[in-house]
Amino acid sequence: MSMNGALLEVRGLELGYGRSTVVEGLDLSVPEGAIVCLIGANGAGKTTVLRGLSGLIRARRGAVLFERTDLANKPAHRIARAGIAHAPEGRQIFGEMTVSENLAMGAYLSPSKAETARRREGALARFPRLAERMRQRAGLLSGGEQQMLAIARALMADPKLLLLDEPSMGLAPLFVDEIFRAIAALKAEGRTILLVEQNAHAALELADYAYVLETGKVSIEGPGRELLARPEIADAYLGG
Ligand SMILES: Nc1ncnc2c1ncn2[C@@H]1O[C@H](COP(=O)(O)OP(=O)(O)OP(=O)(O)O)[C@@H](O)[C@H]1O
Ligand SMILES: [Mg+2]
Repeated sequence: MSMNGALLEVRGLELGYGRSTVVEGLDLSVPEGAIVCLIGANGAGKTTVLRGLSGLIRARRGAVLFERTDLANKPAHRIARAGIAHAPEGRQIFGEMTVSENLAMGAYLSPSKAETARRREGALARFPRLAERMRQRAGLLSGGEQQMLAIARALMADPKLLLLDEPSMGLAPLFVDEIFRAIAALKAEGRTILLVEQNAHAALELADYAYVLETGKVSIEGPGRELLARPEIADAYLGG
């Protein structure tokens, strides 16, 4: 999708670790208000892309235009300040801290206490299970609750772009449904989301646009529902 003026425009991005190149020549766009999904096999480089976008690893080449400003190789705090929040793979909540403290960490750039309180209320209205557990240690939450906390913590930044890495991974079906409902609600509110998912079926149903990553390159792209209907997608990513 070539979208001039999309909120996020990635051009020719190259990422890797040490001597290995993981992602090469990556182009992708995330228009404002859209859910864009990145699918691909294990090891294709999906997490690496999100790490590159949020400044956790260096971009070796290319541009990450966010509101037309190139954030490639800007430090992670600068990228967070620009409005990108990342709910990472494996949730990475602070297990020794309470739920409440985890949420507070997500709001470290909030301009005022009143604004932080407003965001906290929004997060708890969205995930009522968390409201009942605010003083509990986060490490004691169930996997599904920890995922909700990871998303809620990212939302505490009130980001312009939310990066979600495998939010349904390892969860029981009931929680998977709840997480996808929460993502759909975020979209309905106009949030812009770049979603990495193994659950390709649910993700493509939700996605305005999707990219398939194969060994660090985009192999197929198109509107989510269009990709759902493609036999090569069904064979490789939808369990046949
Ligand atoms: N910190 C790291 N150091 C070195 N190599 C890494 C590191 N993280 C990931 N890789 C390698 O980069 C490649 C892409 O990994 P990445 O985690 O981005 O894949 P992925 O698409 O997110 O996979 P999955 O679906 O399993 O989460 C893999 O070959 C992986 O082994
Ligand atoms: Mg991954």
